[in-house]
Amino acid sequence: MQKIVILTGAGISAESGLGTFRDVGGIWQRYRIEDVATPEAFARDADLVHGFYNARRVQAAEARPNAAHRALARLQAEHAGEVVIVTQNVDGLHEAGGARDVIHMHGELARALCAACGGRWEAAAQMSVRDACPDCGACACRPDVVWFGEMPYRMEEILSHLAGADIFAAIGTSGQVYPAAGFAQEAALAGARCVEINLEPSAVAGDFDEVRQGRASEVVPLWVAEILGG
Ligand code: APR
Repeated sequence: MQKIVILTGAGISAESGLGTFRDVGGIWQRYRIEDVATPEAFARDADLVHGFYNARRVQAAEARPNAAHRALARLQAEHAGEVVIVTQNVDGLHEAGGARDVIHMHGELARALCAACGGRWEAAAQMSVRDACPDCGACACRPDVVWFGEMPYRMEEILSHLAGADIFAAIGTSGQVYPAAGFAQEAALAGARCVEINLEPSAVAGDFDEVRQGRASEVVPLWVAEILGG
């Protein structure tokens, strides 16, 4: 049976009301990456960084999965072969939509990380660097998200999935941040058929065998139905 590997980006959660990063009015037009999404930013002003993620954590907690999230969960449940979802998103909408074993390569808003001992725990809605780590007691907690200049999580596992993929789909991502933007090329090397589903062609649309333009909540359920035969 065919192994399907899916990469998602902020565009799959756009119709759930969560902002994307590089669209008009996107997050990086309202905040500077160097102020809120680097280790240096956290060292310089942890309260500013926590404030940025606390606001996004509240928004993500209030958001609901949309038809695209639910369609990918349906694919995982009904496709006879393996279906692996890798997300760049830090919201929990894939799991809220019924998906399981999601690989969060950029971490998760719902988890806290101790910068002193590496301990992880479920994040409070409003985190502060003054929150003590439950493992070591240090007051060095940060959001468990991957910042610019840091290595994404579980890369070896992801590359191994791509090496065995028969189908690779990228959904709702602009293809501007590596290593995720290079996943289609990795999958193509393994002979996978690559499909991009996006509101507009991404920066790496040329790496795909097929580009389906449209809103994820409309296009993804149709794509899943095609794969499942109805
Ligand atoms: N349906 C499908 N695609 C959409 C929709 C929608 N309803 N709305 C927006 N898009 C597309 C946009 O056209 C854009 O190409 O989603 C893409 C979102 O791109 P970005 O905002 O760059 O988000 P993403 O690709 O996930 O960013 C990757 O960059 O800042 C870092 O860590 C951050 O994980 C993020 C990474």
